[in-house]
Amino acid sequence: MPERKQLVAGNWKMNGRRADGIALARAIAERAGGRHACDLLVCPPFTLLASIGEVLGGEALAGSAVSLGGQDCHAAPAGAFTGSISAEMLRDAGCSHVILGHSERRHGLGETDADVRAKAAAAWRAGLVAIVCIGETRAEREAGSAVAVVTAQLAGSLPENAEAQRLVIAYEPVWAIGTGLVPTNADIADIHRAIRSHIPSGTRVLYGGSVNPKNAAEILGLPDVDGALVGGASLKAEDFWAIAAACR
Ligand code: PGA
Repeated sequence: MPERKQLVAGNWKMNGRRADGIALARAIAERAGGRHACDLLVCPPFTLLASIGEVLGGEALAGSAVSLGGQDCHAAPAGAFTGSISAEMLRDAGCSHVILGHSERRHGLGETDADVRAKAAAAWRAGLVAIVCIGETRAEREAGSAVAVVTAQLAGSLPENAEAQRLVIAYEPVWAIGTGLVPTNADIADIHRAIRSHIPSGTRVLYGGSVNPKNAAEILGLPDVDGALVGGASLKAEDFWAIAAACR
């Protein structure tokens, strides 16, 4: 099996006005300069997708060194869904990827596995790669049920026709997101190994949760870790770059 190229993805969350976002995307794209040892992706808020798509290469985005992703989508292609964005709209704005089932949506907005599964099917219908997020809470980890929780989330969140080239899994322990806390290397390795036995061979599995320039080399050096989903540290070009530079 060909080695899985690592992917470093920036999840900007609800951060960035036009000027900041464009400056950040420009700084990242300039450093990327056409190619890099790992794949790079930025996921800005919806309002910035079109302008950042232009910064990253406009029409030529598909061949750009930095790809563009959305942070969520609706399951339907279009219709009376006030405030929502469809996978087809993301694609039209130049996206190649979409983050789905982030814990801030599962735990903050009540998204279920079934919602995530419907959105993943929508992403594939629109030709996007679905980055499906899973992860246990602190209570679930302390109860020893982390593996059971993430494998149940996988079973519930993935459509049946999952294929490696259009799926990325992001393992993000809820208690590690934005807290500065990170699981031990052994715990990351255990979960990634468990995940791998439930997904198509060749699917990339990212780690996310408090990845920063200091811990990136260690985390990205773990054998089953195929990249990182980065929140806070993706908002500074030099930090995002330092993480990308730590890829195997
Ligand atoms: P963090 O967020 O890097 O700020 O912990 C990661 C994420 O939520 O994707």
